[in-house]
Amino acid sequence: MYNMNNLYKEIFKRKSFHFFIGGEPTTEEDVKLVSDFIITVEPLYPDIKTEIRIVKENETTCHRGADYCILFYSEPKGEYLRNIGYIGEQIDLYLTSLNIGALWFGIGKTKEKEIEGLEYVIMIAFKRMPENSFRKDMFKSKRKPLDEIWSGEQMDIANIVRFTPSACNTQPWFVENKENTLEVHRYKKPGKRGIMPMDKVMFYNRIDIGIFLYMLETCLNEKGIKYQRELLPDLSDSEVEKTLSAKYKM
Ligand SMILES: Cc1cc2nc3c(=O)[nH]c(=O)nc-3n(C[C@H](O)[C@H](O)[C@H](O)COP(=O)(O)O)c2cc1C
Repeated sequence: MYNMNNLYKEIFKRKSFHFFIGGEPTTEEDVKLVSDFIITVEPLYPDIKTEIRIVKENETTCHRGADYCILFYSEPKGEYLRNIGYIGEQIDLYLTSLNIGALWFGIGKTKEKEIEGLEYVIMIAFKRMPENSFRKDMFKSKRKPLDEIWSGEQMDIANIVRFTPSACNTQPWFVENKENTLEVHRYKKPGKRGIMPMDKVMFYNRIDIGIFLYMLETCLNEKGIKYQRELLPDLSDSEVEKTLSAKYKM
C-alpha cells in the first residue's frame, strides 16, 4: 500500500494544468496505478458512500486536452462535499508523484449524473506531463498573505498549507491557533461577490475545505505533530462569515 505521508513533497510540485499542453500519452499502466491508488484513499467520513470512476475526457464536457477524468459520486448527505475534497486531494497529490498532471474541474459535467443512487459531484482531469512542466517554486503562486488565513501562534506548516488549491482560487479558509488547538473555519468574506453565483460558491467552498483539511493533516504528519481531530457539521448559509469546520487538538 502507498505510504500517504510520502505525498507531502508533492505539495510543492503540484499545480493545476488548466490546459494540458505538451503532454504525453497516459498509458494503460498509468490508469491501473491510479485505480489501484483510488482503492486505498482514506475518506474523512467512512459512513458516506462514494464511487469513483475513470472515464475518457471525451465522455465529459471537459475539453482541456486531458486524456481521462476521474468522476466522483457520493451519497448527498452530511459533509459529503468536504469528504470528496479530502479524498480527491489525495489523488491530486498522488497523480503529481507519477508526473501525471491534474485539474480539479468544477464546471465539468458528465452523462451519468447518478450511479447506484449516488450523485455526481465533481471531476479531476488528468494526463501524463513532462516533469519540468510541474511547479518549480510554489512560493511564487498567487495566494492570500498568511495573516489573512491564520491567527494566533504561527507554525511553519502555515506557510505550506497556504498553497492549497481551491475553486477560482477563493481560499475559503481561516485557521485560529488557540491553546494548541487549530480551529479551521470555512471563511466567506461578508458581502463579497465574485464571478461565481452564490450557490456554486457554497458548493465548491465546502469541497475546498476538505482539500484544505487533507493538506493540513499531511503537513502535521510530516512534522510529526500528533493531533486529535474533531469534525463539525457545516450548516451555515452564505451570510455567515466564519463556520467552524474542524478542530485539531495538538
Ligand atoms: C474544487 C475546485 C474546482 C475547480 N474548478 C476549476 C474549473 O472548473 N476550471 C478551472 O480551470 N480550474 C478549476 N480549478 C482550479 C483552480 O482554479 C486552482 O486550483 C487555483 O486557481 C489555484 O491554482 P493551482 O491549483 O495551480 O495552485 C478548481 C479547483 C478546485 C479546488
